[in-house]
Amino acid sequence: MYSRRQTRSWYLLGRLYDLAFAGMFRGLRRRVAAAVERDGLYPWLDVCCGTGSQLRGHPPDLVVCGLDKSLGMVRYAMARASGVPFVCGDAGQLPFKDGSFRAVSVSFGLHDKSPDLRRAMMAEARRVLAPGGRLVAVDFENPWSFKSKVGALAVRAVERLAGGEHYRNGRDFLSRGGLRAFLRESGFVETARHDVEIGSISVIVASPL
Ligand SMILES: C[S@@+](CC[C@H](N)C(=O)[O-])C[C@H]1O[C@@H](n2cnc3c(N)ncnc32)[C@H](O)[C@@H]1O
Repeated sequence: MYSRRQTRSWYLLGRLYDLAFAGMFRGLRRRVAAAVERDGLYPWLDVCCGTGSQLRGHPPDLVVCGLDKSLGMVRYAMARASGVPFVCGDAGQLPFKDGSFRAVSVSFGLHDKSPDLRRAMMAEARRVLAPGGRLVAVDFENPWSFKSKVGALAVRAVERLAGGEHYRNGRDFLSRGGLRAFLRESGFVETARHDVEIGSISVIVASPL
């Protein structure tokens, strides 16, 4: 964790990411927060937290924590989310004890990873979840309707901009069936879901088997 003096509110990548996506993802952030709040699933860990926008404005009395591998993002996230702790670390090797959290969330942090890292991330999420804890995942599905097909085309264009490995991993993620199939194969049972047609995206709440 970092002191206030080490934060970086001007981090360009963070600023650009927020500019592009903060508004677009507002509804998704609310859904993820609602899934956690509804069942009081604290402490809550958000992995691959990026700019930390999921945890901004969170009540200070509830224990939440963000984790990302990019130090730049972590320092930016700390500058933007007052009072929230952020850790620089690997989602495939979490620096937390078994059973430390009642919720682990991951938004758009699975499709871009290699199959091995994705598997390691799910094993780690399972390890750090306390009994009765939940995973809340947001990511892409294969399109299921005309509207979601249009959305998927737009997403594909953005993913192409993100480049080589990110794009290839994203194609691989969908070729294996997208978020629903991935969670099932990782040994999580879906307890609730919300589909967002326009982006071919799902928000899934799941329990470890
Ligand atoms: C597409 S961004 C998603 C950010 C955020 N969750 C959101 O919804 O806007 C993926 C994030 O994963 C982070 N990341 C990549 N590899 C990681 C790893 N092994 N462990 C933790 N974070 C990682 C990147 O630094 C990036 O911030």
